[in-house]
Amino acid sequence: MTVFWSIFIIVLVVIQVVGALWMLQSYTTVAKADAEADTTGHVWDADLREYNKPLPRWWLILFWLTAVFTVVYLAIYPGFGSFGGVTGWTQNSQYDQEVAAAEARYGDIFAAFAGMSLQDMSQDADAVRLGRNLYLNNCATCHGSDARGAKGFPNLTDNDWIYGGTPAAIQLSISNGRIGVMPGLGAALGDQGLDEVVAHVLSLSGREADAGLAQAGATRYAQLCIACHAPDGRGVAAVGGPNLTDDIWLHGSRPEDIRAVIADGKVNQMPAQRDLLTEDRIRTLVAYVLSLSRGN
Ligand code: HEC
Ligand code: HEC
Repeated sequence: MTVFWSIFIIVLVVIQVVGALWMLQSYTTVAKADAEADTTGHVWDADLREYNKPLPRWWLILFWLTAVFTVVYLAIYPGFGSFGGVTGWTQNSQYDQEVAAAEARYGDIFAAFAGMSLQDMSQDADAVRLGRNLYLNNCATCHGSDARGAKGFPNLTDNDWIYGGTPAAIQLSISNGRIGVMPGLGAALGDQGLDEVVAHVLSLSGREADAGLAQAGATRYAQLCIACHAPDGRGVAAVGGPNLTDDIWLHGSRPEDIRAVIADGKVNQMPAQRDLLTEDRIRTLVAYVLSLSRGN
């Protein structure tokens, strides 16, 4: 906070507190006059008058106490400009303390698996149960509570992996995050080119497509797409180019969905977790993810 804003806030706070006290004071000391002068002057239904009585004493005392509370609060906690309060309390330090306390309490539970391989952990009921809890808190918003994903968010249960399904590859995906970049190729291909390439992509997974168009599309595919989707269409994990031969679609399976991805491109991101979760927790998550696709 700059000096200017600090002073600005201090002045506002002082004006408010002093103003409130002044108002209280002035209401307390209204002189008691005769009954007639003791009304607000509001009259209803010809003779119904509103009295102007002082506040009950106990109520008034409550108001004074709130003023005292304000002063004590501002002395202890931050709030008075850049003055940090005598206790030095901050939100960040409280957060850090709570994280440290949670780590001291739960850290050991996760650390217990430190010596175990990821494969073994994925067969261990306790590790998988812990991983599931972490998953529901940190991952379900994007990958779904059943981990079956949604449009744009990969299914983690089907054993089809964009970036590889080995324990190490999954750990990298979670820890470092991933960014998949499919360039928009609509301008390079033109309408006719898009029709051809879409037909070829459909034929790669054995779906119905015009044979002539698909043939022409194969040539364009060889020029423009193999770097990221491989010559046989099975994908290139290193750049996140998905397998186009398995009829599993991240961005929709309809020909118009496929056409839109190729024409407009797509940037898709898995956020890195290494600054949010400890290594032990990430390993527990890998075990859970591995357990999901076992048997599929
Ligand atoms: C903000 C949304 C979001 C959250 C939260 C998220 N993910 Fe992801 N995740 C994605 C997206 C999007 C991708 C696909 C990235 C791409 O297409 O390049 C992805 C990819 C992955 C992959 C790679 C899949 C593959 O086929 O190779 C794994 C594994 C994964 N996520 C696991 C997790 C786990 C475990 C968590 C919880 C710690 C998590 N994700 C949290 C959005 C998210
Ligand atoms: C620079 C690398 C790169 C090139 C070149 C490229 N792609 Fe892609 N493509 C990707 C990536 C990465 C994705 C996945 C985007 C994501 O993570 O969501 C993708 C996604 C797709 C998808 C959607 C897949 C799905 O599961 O929904 C299709 C279809 C596709 N590409 C077709 C093509 C075709 C056809 C070409 C050539 C005309 C091409 N791509 C060229 C990298 C590339």
